[in-house]
Amino acid sequence: MSKFIIIYSSVHGQTLKVTNYLAEKLIEQGHQVTTATLEQAPALDEFDKVVLGASIRHGKHTPGLYDFITEQQTVLEQKATSFFSVSLVARKPAKNTAETNPYMQAFLAKTPWRPNLLEVFGGNLNYQGYNAMDRNIIRFIMWITKGPIDANTNVEYTDWQKVDRYAQQLMAL
Ligand SMILES: Cc1cc2nc3c(=O)[nH]c(=O)nc-3n(C[C@H](O)[C@H](O)[C@H](O)COP(=O)(O)O)c2cc1C
Repeated sequence: MSKFIIIYSSVHGQTLKVTNYLAEKLIEQGHQVTTATLEQAPALDEFDKVVLGASIRHGKHTPGLYDFITEQQTVLEQKATSFFSVSLVARKPAKNTAETNPYMQAFLAKTPWRPNLLEVFGGNLNYQGYNAMDRNIIRFIMWITKGPIDANTNVEYTDWQKVDRYAQQLMAL
């Protein structure tokens, strides 16, 4: 039995949904799981395994993610750790691995932290949930990348079987 903490940064709820799903899978297998936002994360000392998850907005993970890693680097290096990233780009088969996803590669370029396990997941696209400016920007990006542009689109690209496999890998860390 391991003590996990999953720390997430989520604007519209999809990274939180992945976090809760992972927590459920880990608890089912007898592990202890705490979940917390980046802002409310408790001290990490008492946990065996630390998982961070963050979504992409306008090409970036939140700056708070990097601040958190910098503050916690010493303790992170003493734990089994993982990082997952959630984005729409990761819906594309050619960009859905840590090695091929540009945001994961940008993450690795920006931080010296090297988690034991990296993963990327497709996110959620819900135009009606965005303000007009964000909706227009994302529709434009979708038009360029041959994604859906209908303003009523609400589609989840998260591959839950992939999340299941990731849960298994976290347990094996
Ligand atoms: C304002 C905004 C900007 C976004 N920018 C990007 C982007 O640059 N690249 C991308 O792949 N996905 C982008 N997305 C998609 C999000 O990463 C995706 O919706 C994800 O599910 C959001 O996760 P969250 O709900 O946990 O924040 C953007 C979404 C929003 C709302």
